[in-house]
Amino acid sequence: MPILKNIRALYSCSGKGSLVERYDRAALAWHQGRITWLGPQQTLPASKTDDIVFDAENCVVIPGLIDCHTHLAFRSFRSEEFEAKIRGVSYLEIARQGGGIMSTVRSTRATSNAELEALCLERLREMLALGITTIEAKSGYGLDEPTELRILELYRRLSSLQPIEIAPTFLGAHVVPLDASSRQDYIELIERKLIPEVSARGLAQFCDVFVEEGAFSVEEARAILHTARQHGLRSKLHVDQLADGGGALLAAEIGAISADHLEHVSAHGINALKHSGTIAVLLPFASLFAFQPPAPGRDLQTAGVRVAVATDFNPGTAPSSHLPFALSLACTLNRLTPSEALAGATWNAAAALGLSDQIGALTVGRQADFVTLRSPSIDEWLYCPKSNCTHTVFKRGIRVHEPR
Ligand code: NIG
Ligand code: FE
Repeated sequence: MPILKNIRALYSCSGKGSLVERYDRAALAWHQGRITWLGPQQTLPASKTDDIVFDAENCVVIPGLIDCHTHLAFRSFRSEEFEAKIRGVSYLEIARQGGGIMSTVRSTRATSNAELEALCLERLREMLALGITTIEAKSGYGLDEPTELRILELYRRLSSLQPIEIAPTFLGAHVVPLDASSRQDYIELIERKLIPEVSARGLAQFCDVFVEEGAFSVEEARAILHTARQHGLRSKLHVDQLADGGGALLAAEIGAISADHLEHVSAHGINALKHSGTIAVLLPFASLFAFQPPAPGRDLQTAGVRVAVATDFNPGTAPSSHLPFALSLACTLNRLTPSEALAGATWNAAAALGLSDQIGALTVGRQADFVTLRSPSIDEWLYCPKSNCTHTVFKRGIRVHEPR
């Protein structure tokens, strides 16, 4: 059985009792991709002495990071909009001028499968090197039948081409595309054609809707997600990002697995999320790059809402896949503690993907997805952002990234 020894501190993140359980001078063993033992190295059972030994070189060990909100497949970053945004042109105004989501849709539609695959593989390689072992990935830059399906098919292919596990989400309801014959026709395409097909072909686990002025109303989202649930897709929502649109209340009402963004969530919304058990997903890069205030992370924690943190990696409002840096920002902008931030990209992120029994913590029986960090503690890891503290990465017990 393989075993990792010489761990400076292991953060199990199991969420029981103290948020992040820590073992000093630890060891970790696994078999056939699942954890079989962990604890202080001096208490290692004698039976484990002839195993294949990996040396953690006094690194810190954490669960493989989970980025539970990304828009992985798109052609290119919209840096051409950056200056206008800095000068104060709003997200909605940029969209009205032909930029925004529709500009990414046009370029993504014109990108071949092979090109899109190469772009995504490169992005996934960067994520893996940062210690990310699972991501959620949304469609939403196709917004027509062929391209939405093409993106979800690509996610399925990518799952077998590289080590990161991908949980796919159908986001056909990102905006109504400008070339739709009417708003009603597009919503009908989503409800009558795309959701049934995506579900029948097992191309997504979740259905997401962007609820905002310029995107979809609460009523439209309620209807779309109702149809999605009838087809076995669980609900996710982009809500209260640019204004309080009552989106968190909708997420709670329909029992969405997560409500993401929440920069403008009301006190009512926070209370509703607490009672529904919906995970609040904070996206600090999007708050920064869409020039919005940070979501009230501290208030959500205090209210007892489960909080996850993700990158929102996308070309318009979150042009970075650096999840560890997003966790540092979750500390400074959203006022999570380093332990809460780490739990937000492990234990609570796994819950936001319905994968709590498999990943998100280092406990016996869970997948052996873990990362060694060249940092003395998670406090220092998040307090001193570096280009990359990640040393080695293991997915299902296999070493999938190591330093050159
Ligand atoms: O999560 N809010 C909606 N969707 C993305 C942004 C998409 C874009 O601007 O391309 C987000 O912020
Ligand atoms: Fe998003």
